[in-house]
Amino acid sequence: MMALRAATSFVTRRLRPASRCTPSTPPRRHASSLPPGCSYQADFLTVDEQDALVEAIKARLKGTGYERDHWDAVIDRYREREMLSVDDDLAEAAVEKVRAFLRSEQGVTSFLPPHCIDLAADGGVIRPHIDSIKFSGRVVAGVSLVSAATMVLAEADPATGEPRPGASESELRLAPGSLYVLADESRYDYAHAIAPEGRRLSLILRDAPADFEQRSL
Ligand code: OGA
Ligand code: MN
Repeated sequence: MMALRAATSFVTRRLRPASRCTPSTPPRRHASSLPPGCSYQADFLTVDEQDALVEAIKARLKGTGYERDHWDAVIDRYREREMLSVDDDLAEAAVEKVRAFLRSEQGVTSFLPPHCIDLAADGGVIRPHIDSIKFSGRVVAGVSLVSAATMVLAEADPATGEPRPGASESELRLAPGSLYVLADESRYDYAHAIAPEGRRLSLILRDAPADFEQRSL
């Protein structure tokens, strides 16, 4: 399974996997540590901040239905939108808390609009992929909301996003209210996948690629 996922994927369609895992794919091994550049903050948002953000995301997604992509797509049974503005003060403060963290911990200076995703309780999934390097920079960060999920990271081919045969996998359990950061190596050289445990909302923040301002999209 492979793919590169565009940050603004509802504008720019994600690429389809070019090949499938075959039965001869070696079994996955477990890595004992997280990939370089990957970090996790439990309880990053307070319960009140989480609740406010959940309401803001639900309002943003109101009226949209869960999409069911082709069987080999990267993401299935989901809704997603950019969050260009957040009306609620506490929800906006929660988003700003993530930005402030990424400014101070990662030196991020320029952000893309946050991106909210709702994975359905029945069949919602994000399969292994590397986020597009054309549309997003060196840092991808995500807040998990409503229910927990497991992120699986495996070293992958940057050209295709396909996990390397026999690559060991790291699992990171994402509790509601937590923040994960994929920077540098973990962002560019590892595929990430999300297996939710129920309906899960997430808010993803990304930095703009270096030449983003100059580009005409
Ligand atoms: C993505 C992605 C992870 C998440 O949108 O590219 O990998 O935590 N999202 O929702
Ligand atoms: Mn991704």
